[in-house]
Amino acid sequence: MYLFGGSGHCKVIIDIIKKSNEYPIEGVFDDNPKFNVIFDVPVFKTKTLDFFIDKQLIISVGNNKIRKKISKKISALYVKAIHPNAIVSYDVDINEGTVIMAGAILNASVNIGKHCIINTGAVVDHDCILNDFVHISPNASLAGGVLVGEGSQIGIGATVIQGVKIGKWVTIGAGAVIIKDVPDYAIVVGNPGKIIKFNLQVNE
Ligand SMILES: CC(C)(COP(=O)(O)OP(=O)(O)OC[C@H]1O[C@@H](n2cnc3c(N)ncnc32)[C@H](O)[C@@H]1OP(=O)(O)O)[C@@H](O)C(=O)NCCC(=O)NCCS
Repeated sequence: MYLFGGSGHCKVIIDIIKKSNEYPIEGVFDDNPKFNVIFDVPVFKTKTLDFFIDKQLIISVGNNKIRKKISKKISALYVKAIHPNAIVSYDVDINEGTVIMAGAILNASVNIGKHCIINTGAVVDHDCILNDFVHISPNASLAGGVLVGEGSQIGIGATVIQGVKIGKWVTIGAGAVIIKDVPDYAIVVGNPGKIIKFNLQVNE
């Protein structure tokens, strides 16, 4: 399999794949490679996108908008990566391109879209629904039945109480406590969370 994007996030995904022993990693592609090799994995400059059509691939880019853009550009056999030390209920639906980091906990009846990141030690409790390109940052916690719209990021250490609906392309700041629904594109910080501004709209 291959990864697309040679950043720090890529290192974490290489680590997951090596630990889970699921696929041999043949290389990392990047439009502007900064290294020739990451650990023992060679890094190549992207040439033709047709190369990926029959290859297993994960987009190893942390930025949600850029991950979406790349996924629209590259047709590939997208796969998922789950760290062996994540705790994942048997009743969880995880879609292609998504990565689950070490120490994450996904509880019963959770549904996770495509190309999401569930980062180190994040908790996603029962019946949460996460749409495509979402990022739950390290140590963030979602209580039961939370809905997270496309492309939203829940910041490091943030907490969302049960049943809250978070819109699309929202940013929840580090350490925020979210106790009510959040509209699309909002940037919310603090305890209790308050909107401070809005993200730019994304081409859908
Ligand atoms: C919310 C966030 C996106 C705002 O970033 P920004 O747009 O650059 O905003 P600024 O730093 O200009 O801050 C704007 C105001 O919000 C406050 N603020 C920013 N982040 C805050 C936070 N997490 N909690 C409380 N207040 C915060 C700032 O103090 C500032 O207040 P002021 O106007 O009174 O001075 C960012 O601070 C943040 O928390 N990002 C999450 C990062 C993260 O989780 N990374 C994990 C990667 S794996």
